[in-house]
Amino acid sequence: MSDLISRHQGLIAPVIAFDTEIIAERAEGIWVHTADGRRYADFACGTAVTNLGHNHPAVVAAAHAQIDRFVHSGCIFRYDTIVEAAERLRDITPPGIEKFGFANSGAEAVEAAVKMTRKVTGRQGLVVFRGAFHGRTMGSVSYTTSNAKYREGYHPILGSVFVAPFPHPYRWGMTEDQAVDHCLWELSMMFRHEVFPTNIAGFLIEPVQGEGGYYAAPARFLNELAELARKHGIKLVYDEVQSGFGRTAEWFASDHYEAKPDVIALGKGIANGLPLSAYGASAEMIDSWPRGSHGTTFGGNPVACAAAVAVMDTMGGLLPHARELSAHALERLGKLATDYPTVGDVRGLGLMIGIELVKDQDTRDPDPDAFASIQRFCLDRDLIVIDCGPDANIIRFVPPLVTTQAELDWAIDLIDQAIDAYESEPGN
Ligand SMILES: Cc1ncc(COP(=O)(O)O)c(C=O)c1O
Repeated sequence: MSDLISRHQGLIAPVIAFDTEIIAERAEGIWVHTADGRRYADFACGTAVTNLGHNHPAVVAAAHAQIDRFVHSGCIFRYDTIVEAAERLRDITPPGIEKFGFANSGAEAVEAAVKMTRKVTGRQGLVVFRGAFHGRTMGSVSYTTSNAKYREGYHPILGSVFVAPFPHPYRWGMTEDQAVDHCLWELSMMFRHEVFPTNIAGFLIEPVQGEGGYYAAPARFLNELAELARKHGIKLVYDEVQSGFGRTAEWFASDHYEAKPDVIALGKGIANGLPLSAYGASAEMIDSWPRGSHGTTFGGNPVACAAAVAVMDTMGGLLPHARELSAHALERLGKLATDYPTVGDVRGLGLMIGIELVKDQDTRDPDPDAFASIQRFCLDRDLIVIDCGPDANIIRFVPPLVTTQAELDWAIDLIDQAIDAYESEPGN
C-alpha cells in the first residue's frame, strides 16, 4: 500500500467513502494524472461536478484573478462576482426563477429551498419522492430515500416529511404509464389518509433521480404534480443539484419538461469543482423570506462565484456537442441491452445515463457483482466509472461535456468488453 493511502486511512474518517485508490498529481480535461505517469479518464466527473473537465482554463483563470483580489466577504461587504453569478443564473434558469441565494453544498441549497418554502407558504408539510437523494445533513437526509443506509441510526429525523412513490417502471416491471398511474393514485391516498394538501408547502423532487438510479421523471408525472401544486397552492421545488449545468445536455433537466419549478436548488457543476450551490425562486417568493432568518458565512464565496460566472459563460457553447454525444451514447449503450443478458435497462437524459445490470432479465434481480467486475476491468484500463442505485448495480455514465466522440467510443468499447468478460467468467 502506498504511503499516502496508509496516511489517508490513518487520519480520514472512513465514513467518507472514496471510490478508488488513484492518487492524483494533477488533472486536466477528462484526464486525472498520477505521479507515476499513468492517466485515467474521469467518467465520474467528481460525481457529476467537473462537467467542463478538470481545470478548465476559463474557470481556473477566473478563480486565479479573483484570488488575487480577495477571497472572502462573509456577507460583510458586497462584491461583483456574486451579482454576476446571479445575473448569469437569471438568464439560464427556467422562467419565473428571478432571484437567488448562494450556499456551499447541494444539501445546503436544498435545505435553504425547503426552509424558504415552509416559511413563505406558512405550511410545514413536505412531500418527497421515494428513491430521491437530497443530501446527508440532518435536514436533507430527512428528504433522502435513495438508500436506507443514509437514515439508519440517525433518527429522529425531521417530521412532517411525507414520502410518495416516484415512477420506477423498469424496477417495478410496469409500463411508464402504469407506473405514473400508480404513483398518482398513491399520492391521492396520501392526501386522503395522512395529510391534507393544504398543509403541504412543497413537492420536493429531482426531475431526474440521480443517486437513486438515474430515473428521468415521466413528463406526465411532472405535469400532474404541477397541476396538483397549482390547485392546492403547493410549491414545486426541483432539486437540480445533479441534473443541472449541462448534465442533461441542456442547462437544466427542467428545460426538457413543460412543468417548470417554483423553486430550484443547484450545486455540483455550478462552479466546476469549487464549492458553491444556489437556490432560486420568483422575486415575490424570495423577497417575502424575512431578512436575516437564514444566512451563511461562506456561501457565495467570491472565488467560487467567479468560477461560476466562467462556467456559465463557457458551457452554452458546449451544449450542442453534449447533445450529439448524448444521442451517440444512448444509441450505442442501448445496444448493450440487446447484446447482453446482464444489461437490463439503459435509460437517461442527455449525459446522465444509467446502465442497469441484472442477474436475470425476467426477475430483474440487481447484480452488484457485475458492476464491481466492470468497474475493476475499466479501472485496469484507465477508465473511471462509478455506480448509482440502492443496490450498487447501475453504471452511472456521466462523461464530461468536453469528451470527444472518439474518447466516448473508447469508453463505451471498454464497458462493452467488460460486460463481455463478466458474462464469460461471472466469478471474475
Ligand atoms: C440531486 C442531489 N441533491 C443534493 C445533493 C447533495 O449535494 P452535496 O453532496 O453537495 O451536499 C446531491 C449530491 O449528490 C444530489 O445528487
